[in-house]
Amino acid sequence: MTAFARRSLHVALCTLLAAVFVACGKQEPAAAVAPGASAAPARVLVVGTDAAYAPFESQNEKGEIVGFDIDIVKAVAQKAGLEVKFVNTPWEGIFNALKQGDRDLLVSSITITDERRQTMDFTAPYFDAHQLIAVRTDSKVTRFDDLKTLKVGVQTGTTGDEAISKLQGKTSANIKRFEGTPLALSELETGGIDAVVADNGVVVNYVKNNGGNKFRTVNDAAFTPEQYGIAVKKGNAELLDKLNKGLAAIKADGSYDRIHAQYLGAPAPAASAPAPAAAASK
Ligand code: ARG
Repeated sequence: MTAFARRSLHVALCTLLAAVFVACGKQEPAAAVAPGASAAPARVLVVGTDAAYAPFESQNEKGEIVGFDIDIVKAVAQKAGLEVKFVNTPWEGIFNALKQGDRDLLVSSITITDERRQTMDFTAPYFDAHQLIAVRTDSKVTRFDDLKTLKVGVQTGTTGDEAISKLQGKTSANIKRFEGTPLALSELETGGIDAVVADNGVVVNYVKNNGGNKFRTVNDAAFTPEQYGIAVKKGNAELLDKLNKGLAAIKADGSYDRIHAQYLGAPAPAASAPAPAAAASK
């Protein structure tokens, strides 16, 4: 068979399969649109998430992606009349996957920062967070400054990485960068590093579930308040608008609070309001 014939056969088979299943070969459901359909049928939007960040996003025993962020986006999508599916996406490539169009949106406990705003658009904030230090129980650390000369683990390219890079200098040999936050935390447990700096919700959850009384957390008023947003490709105003409306709707009708209660306990009184002035997160 010639290469052309083989290709044609492959294409034909794919088209056939695509009619039955949603996608062919790839995980993206892009092939589902029937050729002649004029009114664009609802496309399943692909949501990228680094699912090693419980309780916000993680994989359960069945391999399903679950968590606070997941339920928030599912609820938002339902309000907005959007169909979504979640695809586990490593943090280090996640922003690029959005830029390339491999993902339509990202929900991954992503802190809205001015730098990130240059290359992607964010919904209104849906969660308030801040950095938190994890140390072993016997540690002498009492504030962020104490980490100046210690070995500190962070997830590469996170706001925790930014914070410690500021304190120690970006090229400090004492900064240990990991692909995932749980990897940094288990390295703390085995003694390879002295501390981990990561988002408060994830640190608290890990210490509760894995550490028993092996770990202690240390907060510091010097940590800047952070807010999570859902990210879309820069300029995708239509999707952004739908997501923002959906988000407003789930905040208004109590679904946001229910999801919050399920994964994180009862929301603080002003959880969905803008963060008050300076470092109020102590
Ligand atoms: N909030 C932090 C940031 O935006 C960490 C997010 C990491 N999320 C994840 N799913 N690993 O930099």
